[in-house]
Amino acid sequence: MNNELVLVMDFGGQYNQLIARRVRDLGVYCEVVPHTYSVEEIQKRAPKGIIFTGGPDSVYLPDSLVCDPQIFNLNIPILGICYGAQLMAHMLGGEVRQAPEREFGKTLTHFEDSVLFQDVPKDNIVWMSHVDYIAKVPAGFTAVAHTNNCPVAAMECPDKKMYAIQFHTEVRHTDNGNLILKNFLYSVCDCCGDWSMENYVDVAIQQVRSQVGDKRVLLALSGGVDSSVCAALLSKAIGNNLTCVFVDHGLMRYHEGDEVEKAFSGMEFNFVRVNAGPMFFEKLKGVTDPEQKRKIIGEEFIRVFEAESKKIGHVEFLAQGTIYPDVVESGLGGNSAVIKSHHNVGGLPDYVDFEEIIEPLRMLFKDEVRKLGTLLGLPDYMVWRQPFPGPGLGIRVMGEVTPEKVELLQKADFVYRDELHKAGVDKELSQYFAVLTEQKSVGVMGDFRTYDNTLALRAVTTDDFMTADFARIPYDVLEKASARIVNEVPGINRIVYDITTKPPATIEWE
Ligand code: XMP
Repeated sequence: MNNELVLVMDFGGQYNQLIARRVRDLGVYCEVVPHTYSVEEIQKRAPKGIIFTGGPDSVYLPDSLVCDPQIFNLNIPILGICYGAQLMAHMLGGEVRQAPEREFGKTLTHFEDSVLFQDVPKDNIVWMSHVDYIAKVPAGFTAVAHTNNCPVAAMECPDKKMYAIQFHTEVRHTDNGNLILKNFLYSVCDCCGDWSMENYVDVAIQQVRSQVGDKRVLLALSGGVDSSVCAALLSKAIGNNLTCVFVDHGLMRYHEGDEVEKAFSGMEFNFVRVNAGPMFFEKLKGVTDPEQKRKIIGEEFIRVFEAESKKIGHVEFLAQGTIYPDVVESGLGGNSAVIKSHHNVGGLPDYVDFEEIIEPLRMLFKDEVRKLGTLLGLPDYMVWRQPFPGPGLGIRVMGEVTPEKVELLQKADFVYRDELHKAGVDKELSQYFAVLTEQKSVGVMGDFRTYDNTLALRAVTTDDFMTADFARIPYDVLEKASARIVNEVPGINRIVYDITTKPPATIEWE
């Protein structure tokens, strides 16, 4: 890959991935690297710029994270953010002290003239989160921003192309944060912005071809975004040398198994669908504990996949849909392959007959994966699909999972999703689904008493799925969905809407 590169040097801050995403969104390829990244390695890769991230340490403590001081002599532009700013000040002879009070949240900042603040208003709101502050800038530096509590909210040494900001440009709460980052990339680092999925798609195909040659690749395809895009990419790159195994565990949504098959059967690779529903239901008989259900579904998946792999015979590569956040979260290129195999499909067997792992999406963020999918010709409904848990409807049918209950839920869930789609509210939701509870209740239909199941509807908005808010779906949309489900799905006579946030609830019910 010959793209211009910016390195995001990781000092343990919580927004590190966000910085990298923002840089890529601005059209510049970047990678997150550890703070220990060597000067030799940096020189080899010749980045256009380096960004130091924030971090939880205090630079004046003995064990705080540092970088090789030679980095400051490479003549590569550097932007220090928060801890990164303090580190720059500390290592270059300035002074960093602890403030009596923490400066936290949206803060009015006054900017002086600086290339970094081109086109940014002089008084601008930024997001602060720090106790330490730069009390004295190093020789050759000038303070170019301040707040009421912080004398050096930014400093610069334009001759050496070094810039430092105490606040977080990458966080949405900073007004004009992207503009400041853009100024660094385009006016300080002289980037021209050659990173886009349109440019990358051919590179990605070539990369797969050169890695795989004429060997064979096996992919466990779930129908989720990552594995689907992975399949489309591998298909374009190596055609029939790819075999995708889609294990349909019978716990997919309404007609979803057929949709996955239809979407992929036109592509030029070997597609194997294993209809393993009956086997899964057999194993789940009498099981009510959610964690046990998860475990059984995960194990059974492995067994089915393994049996299919044996039928296919020897393949050299196992493909995985690992994406960049997985790589960063699992220690920056450490053993992410191992972690993801457990993650993805509940743990692929170690003894599948393959020699190497290929992860063609390894350097891409989720939004980049989606763009790539579209460019590779995948339909919108596949590229933009909401997350669906590996154990599927198995954890949305409360208590024992039976084919009858799953069928009931599939139908009701389909109607719910259909109504949200028709009302156009689905695009604003992060995840939405129905849950079949174990609660029965009395109702009246026509002149008859009913005693049937209660269905719960769930819809949430979230950025990261670690916390979530329940969605404020208009009542008339809920009313339509409720009326249709009760009319069209015999066995359900009451609908409730889940109005709990996460925490204290979780998104799924089990
Ligand atoms: P919770 O329910 O923990 O869900 O708030 C957070 C996100 O994770 C998904 N989820 C799972 N995904 N296997 C998966 O692949 C699982 O066992 C599982 N449990 C929850 C859930 O759908 C939501 O997006």
